[in-house]
Amino acid sequence: MATLKRVIIHDKAFKLLIPAEEIRSIVHRMGQQLAERYAQEDLVCVVILKGAFMFANDLIRAMQIPCEITFLRAQSYGAQMYSSGKVHIEFFTNHQRLQDRAVLIIEDIVDSGLTLQAIREYLAQHRPKSIETATLLLKPDTFQGPMPEYVGKAISPLFVIGYGMDYNEGGRYLPDIYVLDSSTAGTTVKQG
Ligand code: PRP
Repeated sequence: MATLKRVIIHDKAFKLLIPAEEIRSIVHRMGQQLAERYAQEDLVCVVILKGAFMFANDLIRAMQIPCEITFLRAQSYGAQMYSSGKVHIEFFTNHQRLQDRAVLIIEDIVDSGLTLQAIREYLAQHRPKSIETATLLLKPDTFQGPMPEYVGKAISPLFVIGYGMDYNEGGRYLPDIYVLDSSTAGTTVKQG
């Protein structure tokens, strides 16, 4: 799919922020770093749905080391436009599989940090050997809480879509990452 400079998703316009080629190079670097860190470990990758599915797919292949792969769904409740701070978690694996193993959380984006904090607390209850996080994107200006150990790229606090991330379920399929075009932005929208 050719890189588009601008896309319309539902009622909003988005412009290109991170082309697929740059994403590939970030993922390659992170994959090498994680392979060194986890080559000798009994690794379980916990992919956070839905947003991280595309990043995790590429990252796990870039790591080229054995691992178990599982999925966790984290949803914030409350008003649609912002997180209520309460996170509902669904975990698609027997908890006992985490005990004494190295857990790597794979996230697409850490925005306020609330979701990640809830996920870490949830997983820690099941006594893994270690818990670390690899996130493709981090918003340092809005983020609070435990710092992810592996960060692909820091971005300003703008709403982004593509490469797994959505606006009202639209745009996840895009291979590049786009940012809300502020010239057409009338409202604030929660990060998806
Ligand atoms: C996004 C993203 C993170 C979370 C980050 O998920 O994938 O999990 O928001 O936000 P926070 O740091 O402010 O807590 P979202 O709830 O939009 O669900 P989705 O991945 O299914 O789109």
